[in-house]
Amino acid sequence: MDAQERQKLFDQAKEWVLQAGRHIRDVIDEPLEIDTKSNPNDLVTHMDRNTEQFFIEKIKQHYPTHNIISEEGYGDQLDTLKNSTVWIIDPIDGTMNFVHQKRNFAISVGIFEDSVGEIGIIYDVMEDVLYTAIRGEGAYKDNQELPPLDPNLSLDESICIINSFWACENPKINGKKIQELIKKVRGTRSYGSAALEFAYVAEGIADSYITMRLAPWDIAAGIVLINEVGGNITRADGTKLDLLVNNTILVANQAIHEQIQNDYIELK
Ligand code: IPD
Ligand code: CA
Ligand code: CA
Repeated sequence: MDAQERQKLFDQAKEWVLQAGRHIRDVIDEPLEIDTKSNPNDLVTHMDRNTEQFFIEKIKQHYPTHNIISEEGYGDQLDTLKNSTVWIIDPIDGTMNFVHQKRNFAISVGIFEDSVGEIGIIYDVMEDVLYTAIRGEGAYKDNQELPPLDPNLSLDESICIINSFWACENPKINGKKIQELIKKVRGTRSYGSAALEFAYVAEGIADSYITMRLAPWDIAAGIVLINEVGGNITRADGTKLDLLVNNTILVANQAIHEQIQNDYIELK
């Protein structure tokens, strides 16, 4: 894909994201059909499904050769990201927030070509804030370019996004080390939408995000954004991500990524 094709694809994807977001805002006060998936707290609504179907129909109609990986099951079954253009879509990221708060959720669309992240779009629907990135062309919050992340940031002056799940016993990780990290950093936050949490690290209003299990659609767009501001994203053990499976995630300002990974994350 050359720069012009990438820009055209971006413009189209952005238009669909804004359109889907407008529709969600229009119907936000209407009753929701709520179901559960893997457990009673894993929620899905008819709006998650409708929004995903909206994207699938548009993509299949306009880009019949492109593939789609998406959360609610209307996409394709892929065993590789190689040799094709793949849209990786979370129609509503932060469904629990969507159901309980009617805010703090996002539409997340990442477009990869031959395994490389080319386009990332994360839309905070209720705030009407759009985070975007095109590979090699920077990351933006609405029309404002995001600056590169602070190369001199120190861990004790950083904000770490981590959820309270870490207060529970976890057989897979040394909890004592995580407690040390929580004491070391200036503060912790938890927002309930992985896509927005990636966007906040890209924006530099938070500096790291640690979580044990995210799906490809939670992270695809965020990866492109983080790359454009010079952040680092790996599995929690520092190894490379695999976008076809769930991953542990450590996304951080480059200045503190290695320190968090080496000194505070001990997987068992
Ligand atoms: C969830 C959110 C949440 C994260 C979960 C994800 P969903 O996505 O991003 O913040 O902690 O792991 O599954 O289900 O609301 O799209
Ligand atoms: Ca999600
Ligand atoms: Ca979702």
